Amino acid sequence: MIGIFDSGLGGLTAVKEMIKLSPDEELIYFGDTGRVPYGNRSSATITKYACQDAAFLLSKKVDAIVVACGTVSTTSLSHLKKTLPIPVIGVVEPSAEAAVKATKNGRIAVIGTAATIRSGAFEREIKKLSPDSEVITQACPLFVPLVENGFVQEDCEITRLAAEHYLSKIRESGADTLILGCTHYPIIAGVISKVLPNVTLISSGAEAAKKALEVLGKKESGGCGSVSYYVSDDPTMFVSNASLFLGGEINGTVEKININEY
Ligand code: DGL
Repeated sequence: MIGIFDSGLGGLTAVKEMIKLSPDEELIYFGDTGRVPYGNRSSATITKYACQDAAFLLSKKVDAIVVACGTVSTTSLSHLKKTLPIPVIGVVEPSAEAAVKATKNGRIAVIGTAATIRSGAFEREIKKLSPDSEVITQACPLFVPLVENGFVQEDCEITRLAAEHYLSKIRESGADTLILGCTHYPIIAGVISKVLPNVTLISSGAEAAKKALEVLGKKESGGCGSVSYYVSDDPTMFVSNASLFLGGEINGTVEKININEY
């Protein structure tokens, strides 16, 4: 059983990929909807929340954890890896690998939350794999609230204006590949692509899911392919917006838990 967590809905981009690639997998998803967003908080707070999220998943007896959150992956992954007794997979390494493979001109852009960009983690990983790459980074703090509130349609004027504002530097840089370093961002990929046409987008959640299945091995059969969802606030909003991420209605139970007990 694989546990997946995020601050909110974004990690569902990893769940969707996981279901697509390994439909027999049993998954437990936790979205910390009561405390989203994480991206503008201090490193200490993000790590504290991440430890509680992981402790909840451990209490459900998961065999591995996918940190389907760019903010936690860039801020607290090494702490989680050191302290948890099971494999922990984050989004940074797999996304950097995919971007280095995809780029043709060696110019790779990364967008994410303020905490993610502040950490420099994507940049370090890309440079490790390809020292000659040019890396352009940009924090996009308004994207998560826009997505969590459903402003995701391709022709949404508010989101388009925010995208124009944040992405102009990347357009000018001539980057041909963009890592969506926050797992919420693939939901507004349509808007992003309008501002950055002909740029290859890398979904960090999907790349983490692929990597997890590579590392842990795909469940071939015998599982019933269930997903149990847990959130830390009223599930109503989560349920109504989850279909945007999953590309269909939630198929599984959604339960509210008290994350402060972990
Ligand atoms: N999906 C999270 C990430 O990938 C959202 C961040 C937030 O909660 O601000 O960074």
